[in-house]
Amino acid sequence: MTTALITGGTSGIGAAFATRLARDGLDLVLVARDTERLAERARRLRDQHGVAVDVLPADLSAEPGIETVEARLADRSHPVDLLVNNAGFGNQGRYLELPVADELTMLRVHCEAVLRLTTEATEAMRERRRGGVVNVASVAAFLPRGTYGASKAWVVQFTQGAARDLAGSGIRLMALCPGFVRTEFHQRAGMDAGAVPNWMWLDAARVVDAAMTDLARGKDLSIPDPRYKALMGLARIAPRGLLARTSSSAGRRYGPR
Ligand SMILES: NC(=O)c1ccc[n+]([C@@H]2O[C@H](COP(=O)([O-])OP(=O)(O)OC[C@H]3O[C@@H](n4cnc5c(N)ncnc54)[C@H](OP(=O)(O)O)[C@@H]3O)[C@@H](O)[C@H]2O)c1
Repeated sequence: MTTALITGGTSGIGAAFATRLARDGLDLVLVARDTERLAERARRLRDQHGVAVDVLPADLSAEPGIETVEARLADRSHPVDLLVNNAGFGNQGRYLELPVADELTMLRVHCEAVLRLTTEATEAMRERRRGGVVNVASVAAFLPRGTYGASKAWVVQFTQGAARDLAGSGIRLMALCPGFVRTEFHQRAGMDAGAVPNWMWLDAARVVDAAMTDLARGKDLSIPDPRYKALMGLARIAPRGLLARTSSSAGRRYGPR
């Protein structure tokens, strides 16, 4: 049986990956911090789809959490065929409105954990000559948007570079870059997302379906919606100053802390 490990598999895009992959008949390992929510989510997936679902409580901003997931990915007796590095968050505020410790926590979850988990997973996959890794970035990777955008730019560059380095190994790596998706993300980050126009919002299940199609096609980068593909095409040719002004305001109104 094929097994997928999903970080942040209890909510939003990660939960949509879990539902889609369980529907496809994959066994799952779900990683997140909230143990009760993990157990509830696993129970529902087992009941609805008849697949095996293990839970792995871990905080990916802390060394023991990263080590726990690394150990699971290194376990050759229970191989993981698809890793989805999805756990992530936004901080409530712009640069210098936030303690630098919060920015470092973000880099740990978005970059260090992604690097270490991808490395552990692909080492094991290389021995079996098959496997896949989806690293969830964001269209913010292409825009000047503080540490969040910078961390997601790292995810894109790292993933595309690793995909090239591992070409011919049987392993597919893909960076997934959604636009605004209706999840708990904005509320958790204290963002007032009310100013984001309706047409910019994406549905998590559709994002995941498009991502899985792109992964099957062997793409190393997925922007899962024609509207955002067009916008990112424009972003590539727009003057950097204009881009910085526009992107630093879009969806970045914060409520009181
Ligand atoms: N929503 C959007 O508009 C959007 C757009 C582009 C990209 N993204 C990216 O998509 C990914 C998923 O975001 P989402 O929108 O689905 O957010 P979400 O609904 O808030 O879900 C976040 C998930 O990550 C887990 N998580 C957060 N911090 C963690 C940590 N330190 N250790 C382990 N698990 C952690 C959460 O569970 P626990 O709290 O229980 O740990 C939860 O399962 C993120 O990487 C985000 O940057 C989101």
